[in-house]
Amino acid sequence: MPRITVPRDVYFGRGCLDALKTLPGKKAFIVIGGGSVKRSGLLDKATSYLKEAGFETYLFEGVENDPSIETVRKGAAAMEEFGPDWIVPIGGGSPIDAAKTMWVVYEHPDIDIYDINPFNMPPLRKKAQFLAIPTTSGTGSEVTNASVICDYATGIKFGVAGFEIIPDIAILDPEATDSMPQKLTAHTGLDALTHATESYVAKFASPFTDAQSFYAAKMIFDTLPAAYAGDQGAREAMHYAQCLAGMAFSSSMLGISHAMAHKTGGMFEAGHIPHGLANSIYLPYVIQYNAKDPGAKKKYVELAKYVGVTGADDDALVAGYVEKVRALASSLGTPKSLKEYGIPEAEWNAKVEEIAVNAMTDSLVISNPRDIDTPTMQKVLQYIYEGKDIDF
Ligand SMILES: NC(=O)c1ccc[n+]([C@@H]2O[C@H](COP(=O)([O-])OP(=O)(O)OC[C@H]3O[C@@H](n4cnc5c(N)ncnc54)[C@H](O)[C@@H]3O)[C@@H](O)[C@H]2O)c1
Ligand SMILES: [Zn+2]
Repeated sequence: MPRITVPRDVYFGRGCLDALKTLPGKKAFIVIGGGSVKRSGLLDKATSYLKEAGFETYLFEGVENDPSIETVRKGAAAMEEFGPDWIVPIGGGSPIDAAKTMWVVYEHPDIDIYDINPFNMPPLRKKAQFLAIPTTSGTGSEVTNASVICDYATGIKFGVAGFEIIPDIAILDPEATDSMPQKLTAHTGLDALTHATESYVAKFASPFTDAQSFYAAKMIFDTLPAAYAGDQGAREAMHYAQCLAGMAFSSSMLGISHAMAHKTGGMFEAGHIPHGLANSIYLPYVIQYNAKDPGAKKKYVELAKYVGVTGADDDALVAGYVEKVRALASSLGTPKSLKEYGIPEAEWNAKVEEIAVNAMTDSLVISNPRDIDTPTMQKVLQYIYEGKDIDF
C-alpha cells in the first residue's frame, strides 16, 4: 500500500536543541559514536537539557562508523537493563542507525536481526519512543525508515527497514553540524544529493516524494559548495535539504548506487569507503545506465532543467546533469573512479564478481528504475572502477 510516513515532529533552527527541555518522559538512553559530540560540547548540552526536563540518562558510546551487529546487540542488552522510555541517538547516520535496530531488539528481545524487513517489522513503542539528533548533513536517518547495519565477518551491509522505525521526533539544530570537517561535509552532502537523485527516479516515487526530492536536489546544488567553504547559512540549508531528501527516499526507496555502496563500503583492505564518498563516485555512472529507460530519462531531464542545466535535447540535458554532479563532486575533492580512489587492480579483479553478486541481493535493486542482472551489475562496477562512461 503506497504510504508516506514522517516523524510526528521535526524541530529546526539554530538552538532548537532546546526542545529537549520540555520532552515528557523519565529515562533517556543516549547513543553516540566517537568523541566528536563530546568534544563539541553537544553531548553535555543535550544531557543537561534532558536532566532539566526531569530525565535520568544513560550513555551508550562507541558505535563504529558503519555499525556492527555486535554493537547493536550490546546496546539492546544495555537498554534492557536500563529500561528507557526514550531512545536518543546523537550523531551521524551510524549511531542513529545502530540505535534504531537496538530499539527493535529492545522491544522484541527474541527477534532475529536478519529477519527484520518491511513485511514483518513488529510494532514498536510499547517500551520506548525515539528522538534523533543528527550531527552530519547527509543520511536523513533522523526521518527515514531505514537502519544500515554491517556484518563485519563479511564486510557486507544490510538494511533493517520498516515504517515502524521512523523516529517520533527529529531535532535539526544546525549548531550540531558546526564541528563537521570539510571532508565529512563533502561526503555526507554528496550522499544527500544521491538520495535526492535516486529517490526522484525510483520505482516507488510519488508526487509526494517528487516534491521533496526535487527541492532537496536544488538546495544541495545551490548550497553545498558554500557549506563546504564554511558558510553558516549554507550549512543550515544543507541540514534541512538532507532531511528533505531523507523524507523522500524513506517512502520512494533508492537505486543501484546505494546497492553498490552498501556492498563495497567494507570490502577492501584499504579500509571502509565512506558511504557518501562511494555514492558520489557511483551516481554519475548510475544515471548514465538508468537514462536508457525512457521513464527515468524523462525524470532526469526534469531534474536537470530544474537545477539549471541547459541542453539542445534530452540527451544533452541528461549528460549535463551527469556533468553537474561530477563538477560538484570534483570541486569537493572526491575522485571519479574506484581506481583513482586507490583500490589496487589485483584486489579489484579478485573481488568484483563477488561484489556484483552481493549488490544484486540488496533490496534497493528492486526500486531502481531500470532492471539489471548480475553480469550487467558487474559490468557497471567495472566501468566505475576504470572511470569509463556507461554506454550500454
Ligand atoms: N538510515 C538511513 O536512512 C541511512 C541513509 C544513508 C546512509 N546510512 C548509513 O549511515 C552511515 C553513515 O553516516 P554518516 O555519513 O552520517 O557518518 P557516520 O555517522 O558514520 O560518522 C562519520 C564520522 O563523522 C564523525 N562526526 C559525526 N558528526 C560530526 C560532527 N558534527 N563533527 C565532527 N565529526 C563528526 C563521526 O564521529 C565519525 O567518525 C553509513 O553506515 C550508511 O550506510 C543510513
Ligand atoms: Zn546514502
